[in-house]
This record gives sequence, structure tokens and C-alpha cells, in this order.
Amino acid sequence: MNSTCVVCGSQENLLRCARCKKTFYCSRTHQKQDWKRHKPTCNTADDQNVQTLNVEKETNGTLPVVGSSEDEILSSCAQSLSPNLYKSKVNDENMPASKENLRFDPSFHCTTLNKSRGPDTDIDLMSLNVLRDMNDYGVCVVDNFLGEEKGRLVLKEVLNMYSSGVFKDGQLVSNRGRTDLKTIRGDKIAWVDGKESFCNYIGSLISQVDAVIIRANKMENNGKMGQYNINGRTKAMVACYPGSGSRYVKHVDNPNRDGRCITAIYYLNLNWDVKDCGGLLRIFPEGWRGDKVADIEPLFDRLLFFWSDRRNPHEVQPAYQTRYAITLWYFDSIEREAACRRYEKERSMIKQPI
Ligand code: OGA
Ligand code: MN
Repeated sequence: MNSTCVVCGSQENLLRCARCKKTFYCSRTHQKQDWKRHKPTCNTADDQNVQTLNVEKETNGTLPVVGSSEDEILSSCAQSLSPNLYKSKVNDENMPASKENLRFDPSFHCTTLNKSRGPDTDIDLMSLNVLRDMNDYGVCVVDNFLGEEKGRLVLKEVLNMYSSGVFKDGQLVSNRGRTDLKTIRGDKIAWVDGKESFCNYIGSLISQVDAVIIRANKMENNGKMGQYNINGRTKAMVACYPGSGSRYVKHVDNPNRDGRCITAIYYLNLNWDVKDCGGLLRIFPEGWRGDKVADIEPLFDRLLFFWSDRRNPHEVQPAYQTRYAITLWYFDSIEREAACRRYEKERSMIKQPI
């Protein structure tokens, strides 16, 4: 009898449960989906002598990688943060801007940054701003983050990357294999660490965002930020919504404690008018009175921070022009360690190709 995936019946690229060796799946996603049902019946008789759930190396095939953000987040793309690398000061023209051109809900109280007060560096000022807004709203916007000149250089690198064809379709944490991915998430993405030869300015953007986060996390009276020990982040995800109504439906970046605590997004879109171009980011922050939302236009040289967990469901509304952004997700060390342990355990359950 031919084996089939117990979830969808597929007979292709089958993998089998490393534990009972009797149940087949077409993908890790289907294994995970079936685990609750399968677990009680997964052969425990053989189990008594089994110390670890080692993956059998019985074939010469390699385990197919089921792409998902979770795989990307929990496996290859973690970067550690080294505060020593980020001593550079931000220039005057890179001061965080006031927020008067933001189209937040009116109840979103926006204060203008007072440039004349005391902290040592502009990084300090920005970090204070970030702390305050993350504390009060869970969302923080900084305009003119790099300044026009450097922002344009970052954009140029992104455009070059895009035309060189390194972008691929965005992935989902859990796509059950049933939905057309593009209707959920229509962006094209590339992961970079900023050290690539074609990423000079992207690399310096990353360092600058790191500097703000590291500083904020280490400040005294750091409020909600103080609940985290931020010691790492993902690589940078360079994303392009290619227009034609491409969007990302309402979602939470980190619904299941995968370690990410802060989402930082840098936008690169010159002359962007949401009325014509769409592509608005709408955040539905949990606990804002009266179901208020925060509407963020993806404007050139704008940097956005928000808590990555269930406090901030958000959507990218359909974009009608090409829309670029670079996203970094910062890790809380404890949550991430726990997530990596869970992930390793799950991986040890993954079947080998048969
Ligand atoms: C994401 C996302 C928002 C944006 O990639 O998870 O929500 O404004 N992006 O690009
Ligand atoms: Mn998101």
C-alpha cells in the first residue's frame, strides 16, 4: 500500500514520524498540525528504551525545508548585538522629527521632541523618545531617521537588490498549505545581515537602529522595555510589495512567544501618498480605548517600532505602487532561549525522507 500524508493524503516527498516511524506527512507544517491528535497514539511501546528522539539518518535525501517565518526566525538568522559596535553618534540632521505629520487617531497623543534638553547624544534622545512612546502606546515613530542623503543610499541598495532578483515570496508562520499565500501576504523579501558587499548603507542603518534599541533597553527607568533583555535580533528582512493591490492581512508578528519582542520597520518610499499608493500600515493596538487604530504611512526615512506580540495586530493595506521597507525583529533573550529549546525538541521529532 502506498503511504500518504495523514493530513492531506499527498504521496509526494513523504516524511515519517521519527518516534513511531509509522505515520507519514508531506511536510513539517502538516506534522505540527497533526501532533495533538497523533501524540496519544504515537507508538509509546518502543519508546521505553528511547532516550532521545534522534532523527534517523537512513536515507541520502535531505530534509525538505518547509519555509516559514518561524523557521527563519528560530534557525538561521539570529544575530547577536554588541553594544561596542555602536558608538557612532547620529548627526544633527538625523534628529528624530516631531510627529505632527502623522495620521494617528486623534486620541494618540503626540509630543514634539524638545531638542534642547540634556542627554549626551542624539542616540540618547531617540532612545528616550522610544522608551516613552513604547511605554505609553506600544508604538513609536521616528521621522528623518537617517536624513535624506543616507536614506537615498539605502534605497539605492534596496533597488539594486530588487533588480538583481534576490527577492523571494514572503512566508507565513503557519500556512496550512490550503490558502493562496499571496492573498494573505503579497510581499517579496530578502534576508541580509548588512555585511554583504551590496549592503553598506543597509548595514549602517541596521547599526543605527541597534544603537537606539540597545541604549533604550539599558536606560534607567526603562519601563516596559525593562521587562526584556534584548541581546539579539533577526537579520534584516528587506521587503517589497510590488503594487497591484499586494497586501498583508491583519496578523500578529509573534503570536506564540518565538522570542521577538520589538518590531522595527524602516520605510523607503519617496513621494508616497497613501490616497493614490495605498500601502498604509494600520495597527490595532490592544487596549487602546474605543477600538482606536494607529495609521502609519510608509514614508521615506521613517522608522517605526512596536511590540511584536499580541498587543499589536496590524495589516498592510493594498499597495498600488512598489513599496519598500526593511524590518528587524529584536529578541528577548529568555523568551528566545525557551523558543529555541522548544524548536529543537520539535525538530528532533521531524521525520526523515523515506
Ligand atoms: C510584516 C509587516 C508591515 C509593513 O512584514 O510582518 O507587518 O508596514 N510589515 O511593512
Ligand atoms: Mn507584521
